[in-house]
Amino acid sequence: MSDTLPIPEKVRVFLARTHGLLIDGAWHAAASGRTLATEDPATGAAIGHIAAGGSEDIDAAVRAADWALREHGWRAMPPPERTRLLWTLADLIERDAEELAFLESLDNGMPLALARFSVTGAASGLRYNAGWAGRIAGEVPTLSAPDHHAYTVYEPVGVVGAIIPWNLPLTMAANKIGPAIAAGCTLVLKPAELTSLTAIWLGELVVEAGFPRGVVNIVTGLGAEAGAALAAHPMVAKISFTGSTATGQAIAAAAVPTLKRVTLELGGKSPVFIFPDADLDAAAIGAANGIFLNSGQVCVAGSRLYAHRQVFDRIVDTVASRADALSVGPGTAPATQIGPLVSAGQKQRVESFLADGARDGCMRVAGGAAPTGAGHFVRPTVLAGAQPHMSVYREEIFGPVLTIMPFEEDDLDALAARANDTRYGLAANIWTRDISRAHRLARLIDAGTIRVNGAGIDHALPFGGFKQSGWGRENGREGVLAHMELKSIAIRL
Ligand code: NAI
Ligand code: MG
Repeated sequence: MSDTLPIPEKVRVFLARTHGLLIDGAWHAAASGRTLATEDPATGAAIGHIAAGGSEDIDAAVRAADWALREHGWRAMPPPERTRLLWTLADLIERDAEELAFLESLDNGMPLALARFSVTGAASGLRYNAGWAGRIAGEVPTLSAPDHHAYTVYEPVGVVGAIIPWNLPLTMAANKIGPAIAAGCTLVLKPAELTSLTAIWLGELVVEAGFPRGVVNIVTGLGAEAGAALAAHPMVAKISFTGSTATGQAIAAAAVPTLKRVTLELGGKSPVFIFPDADLDAAAIGAANGIFLNSGQVCVAGSRLYAHRQVFDRIVDTVASRADALSVGPGTAPATQIGPLVSAGQKQRVESFLADGARDGCMRVAGGAAPTGAGHFVRPTVLAGAQPHMSVYREEIFGPVLTIMPFEEDDLDALAARANDTRYGLAANIWTRDISRAHRLARLIDAGTIRVNGAGIDHALPFGGFKQSGWGRENGREGVLAHMELKSIAIRL
């Protein structure tokens, strides 16, 4: 394995500190006094400690957010001021980009190049959402009733509870803060216990940027403790969750007693179709990148690749040689393209799917033994021969594992039926030069995010899933509206 870069001085100092919870504009230890170790997944070694927040801390944070919203003037804060705060936060993220990227890579395992990209993405997401503050206006509907004047207004939903996963920690934190602040809400953010460090750094930037106290609160801790307390808290008006489908279901259930608004960005098992007329090399490399990026720990990962029979062998060869060529190692080594998985548990989960696949008769056309030692490495793996009943075909593996299947059909309905044979509906990718086929197939697939010929994601485009991939949409106007209530006001003249 290649050499890792030395830890930057500011990151070293940060890691050595004891971290608290950002509640009401100040840092506090957890009420219980407990802490959790966080590790470098490339070595398994502890790199720092975070506070283990629990229900008492969540209660304090939610009350601070409620006070900031209702009593301390956040509701009356002019929208340009909210815009300015989000821009300032984005500027501070860019100032600290190198340190944040290093810390993200160290805590999550992702390659530095991806960490740098996600830090930039966090800043641009905040700026995108900053532009929405004050831009969402109601209407003046034409009424049937005579002698009335009426209008609609959008108002912030209230205190938002945001719960995020460990796969893209800083990006997720910024993507939760941006629309909530743009909408005029206050929030309590609960980072993933495996990767809280960049969210804590972000919390320090929130304070430095001058956000009024209580507007952004950050409570680290376990999902079953801090997360569950936030999802159930009666003063939280809306939960914005990204993570696994199972936890999304638990959060939706926890929201029922108080009928909180809930948006859920959950898992996927997204299909990729490569037609014979596509730019085949671009398609094969795009498909490989689409599943191996961040070691497959991406909700939109294209994990089911369907290649037309005419080009199947060529696509398998290109994808497999790409997989075998990727350099696996610690994220903080500059040569690394594939970092470790986030945790021992995640590696075990992926390996158990690989064992299922082998038992079910799949053929491994790329992959093999990962670097030995304490890190949670899994080599990029390509499986041929997967059938629809197999777990490797059906389940979200959330690892660097691609199943590749041939198709013969020219009938798009039949292809869409294969795409839609899943409980998920998050994303799909289509590679073809035939415009009509691309548009027709895009309309037939039950998924929220369809990309053709390698198009990416964009803050302006609504993002989310059909079926068990979630509820609601993030990004775009819809992402801000999801933090607002609509009110109609009518006056009899
Ligand atoms: P998770 O979905 O349980 O964790 C995501 C967040 O939810 C974390 O902040 C966690 O602390 C919190 N959480 C956990 N239980 C909670 C509860 N009862 N109430 C409120 N918050 C709670 O993900 P986990 O357990 O780390 O990963 C399990 C599997 O889920 C992975 O192996 C992967 O397959 C899948 N996953 C999918 C993601 C996606 O974006 N599609 C993201 C993360 C995990
Ligand atoms: Mg970690």
